[in-house]
Amino acid sequence: LMACAFEKDMAGKKVLVTAGPTQERIDPVRYITNHSTGRMGYSIAKICALRGAEVTLVTGQTALEPPLFVDVVPVVSARDMYEAVVERSVEMDVIIKAAAVADYRPAVTSDEKIKKSDGDMAIDMERTDDILGYLGSCKKPGQFLCGFSMETQNMLENSRAKLRKKNLDMIVANNLKVKGAGFGTDTNVVTIITADMEKELELMSKDEVAARLLDEILARI
Ligand code: CTP
Ligand code: CA
Repeated sequence: LMACAFEKDMAGKKVLVTAGPTQERIDPVRYITNHSTGRMGYSIAKICALRGAEVTLVTGQTALEPPLFVDVVPVVSARDMYEAVVERSVEMDVIIKAAAVADYRPAVTSDEKIKKSDGDMAIDMERTDDILGYLGSCKKPGQFLCGFSMETQNMLENSRAKLRKKNLDMIVANNLKVKGAGFGTDTNVVTIITADMEKELELMSKDEVAARLLDEILARI
């Protein structure tokens, strides 16, 4: 029923959305991850589908119900997400990266549970691939790339720098210190940034943020 309430203004568009955290394995019982419930990405995938787009959702592990009418691809690590996204990216009109991807992973993973000893322990970490950075470096003509940016300080400058560095068309900036923004809430406070625009949205539900964000993207593709 709800599906009828949406204009199908994204019909014919192929959209890939990423959501949720990645998990970087230390041993069979431990991993390193980021805070992320996946709600922002799931909202985007859902609203895209309701507006008639063909949607693929590459998602880290979350507690959320998969959205209806969306091709859901579950992944665990940043490497899995990189592979799943890059494999599918060429045919996509729009790619929206709401996932909280780990920037580092343990350089070595143990097949056995690491037993504790009396002393301290350190874990050597290596960089993961920057998925969005890679997509930006080989963006095909007409493809629209949208990133998310989480910051606790200098949100606008840092986000603008990411927009340029990763060759993005848009970045959605979150300030984690604003009440009602970020992870674990149903609402968000974001600023939508492009090369020539900066629009701060008021506090609203993540579904509403998704709808407004998609309006801005549609106006540019
Ligand atoms: N991203 C990605 N692959 C990574 C890290 C981040 O695709 N290995 C994407 C995120 O999904 C997000 C955007 O890049 O859309 C920005 O992520 P963010 O963590 O805010 O920025 P980073 O470039 O990782 O820089 P930093 O964490 O140092 O602020
Ligand atoms: Ca990061």
